[in-house]
Amino acid sequence: MTHDTLTITDNRTNQTYTLPIENGTVRALEFRQIKAYPEDFGLMTYDPAFMNTASCQSSITVIEGERGILQYRGYPIEVLAEHCTFLEIAYLLLFGDLPNETELKNWVSEITHHTMLHETTKKFMEGFRYDAHPMAMLVSTVAALSTVYPEAGNIHDPSNRLLQIKRLTGKMPSIAAMSYRHNLGFPYVYPDNDLSYSENFMNMLWKMVEPKYVANPVLAHALDILFILHADHEQNCSANVMRSVGSAHADPYLTTAAAAAALSGPLHGGANEEVLKMLDEIGSRENVPGYVKKVKEGHGKLMGFGHRIYKNHDPRAKIMKWTADQVFEVTGRNPKLDIALELERIALEDEYFIKRKLYPNVDFYSGIIYQAMGFKPEMFTVLFAIPRTVGWLAQWQEMFLQPEQKIARPRQIYTGHKARPFLALERRAPGGTRKD
Ligand code: CMC
Repeated sequence: MTHDTLTITDNRTNQTYTLPIENGTVRALEFRQIKAYPEDFGLMTYDPAFMNTASCQSSITVIEGERGILQYRGYPIEVLAEHCTFLEIAYLLLFGDLPNETELKNWVSEITHHTMLHETTKKFMEGFRYDAHPMAMLVSTVAALSTVYPEAGNIHDPSNRLLQIKRLTGKMPSIAAMSYRHNLGFPYVYPDNDLSYSENFMNMLWKMVEPKYVANPVLAHALDILFILHADHEQNCSANVMRSVGSAHADPYLTTAAAAAALSGPLHGGANEEVLKMLDEIGSRENVPGYVKKVKEGHGKLMGFGHRIYKNHDPRAKIMKWTADQVFEVTGRNPKLDIALELERIALEDEYFIKRKLYPNVDFYSGIIYQAMGFKPEMFTVLFAIPRTVGWLAQWQEMFLQPEQKIARPRQIYTGHKARPFLALERRAPGGTRKD
């Protein structure tokens, strides 16, 4: 017997079982052999919210939460943010290695040529109410692309999958910009293929009557860094949705829309919008201690704080602060920063937050930067969704290459009624009781 095993004694039967340990993991299915009686279904593991369950094998992104490390394909996030463009990172996440010069040139050209949206998509967006939430517009419009590209359903053909990946990567900023301008009542701006990914996004957001939009290089670079920081984060809630919906073989547009819907939640990507609402509610530095006290008493959460995996600092937060400084040089300092810094200072010294290992996460500072750039809080999660689409697609693609991947289908512990007699309608009383 090797040491890479786990020996379990079932005290109900006194039977001993030896299970293999691989990669620090025991396969949950191994527990099925542990039965209390012959007809027993076998032991299951119970893990609501996947607190301690690996759902796949992946070679894309790794987070070492206790050490505050984040790597894409083995490269530390700090190095990538300093030296790469977002499209280089997209290539890295999707194909496994950084592109060389020729590969990058071709990749950028291909993505650039997929930024246009079908005119019916524009009409579709025009149907939204003037004040529709941009994230809801994005989710619905991404799903609607499924009607434009019905061949996307052929998910077993690798070249077809790659075409949809390029389309989604290219079109996401176009959809995001349309949702932004829709709220403002401005005409939609078509992509400009001469510009970089971030510059073109800025062009589609902010071009007015000038013949050629010229992006501020500092803001374009900041946006690119923010895109890099948000590109992937291993098996988070939306990536899990991407894999789960993808495992049913839905097409990539519908699958991405599902992942984006998960991202919109305030506990996930929607937290960046909530952070700004929270800072508005706090109003000034003096009100911070009172707000923190309320949170500790159980009234709400500090939005932008805490993480399932990071139990030390979030490595992205440091890069975020550096980026904020660059942006504020151009836009002027966002006054919300003072409240945020005070909140961080007080929370990091407080026993409640120390004990629970709650640190600022990526969403804590991103909103302050986005606001300084001129975005309304409703747009923040949309800005998150643009680069994360690449991460979702990398996770989705990887899923197809894993031989043991099947449709995701968890078990449950049934806590409902045992079989009970049916009551005809006329004999039913309130609360499931019978009249007679
Ligand atoms: N403010 C106050 N208390 C908190 C917070 C917070 N932000 N986050 C966690 N706690 C407490 C929580 O109440 C619990 O306390 P107790 O042990 O007394 O019951 C303890 O810390 C553990 O929290 P948990 O909810 O069990 O942790 P989780 O891993 O299930 O949740 C989280 C992680 C990110 C959903 C949570 O920390 C949270 O809701 N944070 C605020 C929302 C947020 O910023 N989300 C963005 C996450 S990062 C980017 C992304 O994923 O998109």
